Amino acid sequence: MNQFKAVIFDLDGVITDTAHYHYLAWKALAESEGVHFDHAFNENLKGVDRMGSLNLILAGSPKTYSMEQKLALADRKNRQYVELIATMSEADLLPGAIDALAAVRAAGLKIGLASVSKNAFTVLERLGIRDRFDYVVDAALIANSKPHPEIFLNAAAALGVAPAHCLGVEDAVAGVASIKSAGMFALGVGSPEVLTQADRVIPSLAQFRLGDY
Ligand code: BG6
Ligand code: MG
Repeated sequence: MNQFKAVIFDLDGVITDTAHYHYLAWKALAESEGVHFDHAFNENLKGVDRMGSLNLILAGSPKTYSMEQKLALADRKNRQYVELIATMSEADLLPGAIDALAAVRAAGLKIGLASVSKNAFTVLERLGIRDRFDYVVDAALIANSKPHPEIFLNAAAALGVAPAHCLGVEDAVAGVASIKSAGMFALGVGSPEVLTQADRVIPSLAQFRLGDY
């Protein structure tokens, strides 16, 4: 067993199913621009920030977009996403999420949150779990989206824990890559066929067992 001193969680798709809301909002936007959008393509957007995701979608369009047009499209997607999360509550926590957070706390480890979403604080408040984290990265201060290691390194530094003693938990290909390039142990949540770079993969946080890693 590794001597972990901190666990750093992703939010969307790990703790709550907001990944589905991002999917719905991006699909509506892509289709309004005549770009085909499906679950396979959506995998490329997970963990990628808002403008990065928009650029990946618009690469499939023959049109060219000014920065002003891109900002308007990103804003439209975000307004739909904000509407979708407005009614979220504790009932939207994924199975095992609270138990996983409680197990990490009981083991005396620090708990961080590394989401590139600028809506992460709102989602944490709606879920009623903001105070379960020792540190939540402010996505507005992160220059490089996942798969760059910046966000996980930022969380580790704020928690005062060396990356080698951190366990990162992610549902996205880009997120797992971010954890690995930060020099941490990567626990994937999802399918091993998709999260090939992860050190271990579990189907959901309901299978999270700190002592197994
Ligand atoms: C990530 C999601 O957590 O946040 C992405 O996996 C999303 O799908 C990204 O695009 C940015 O979110 P927001 O809320 O800042 O638009
Ligand atoms: Mg995610």
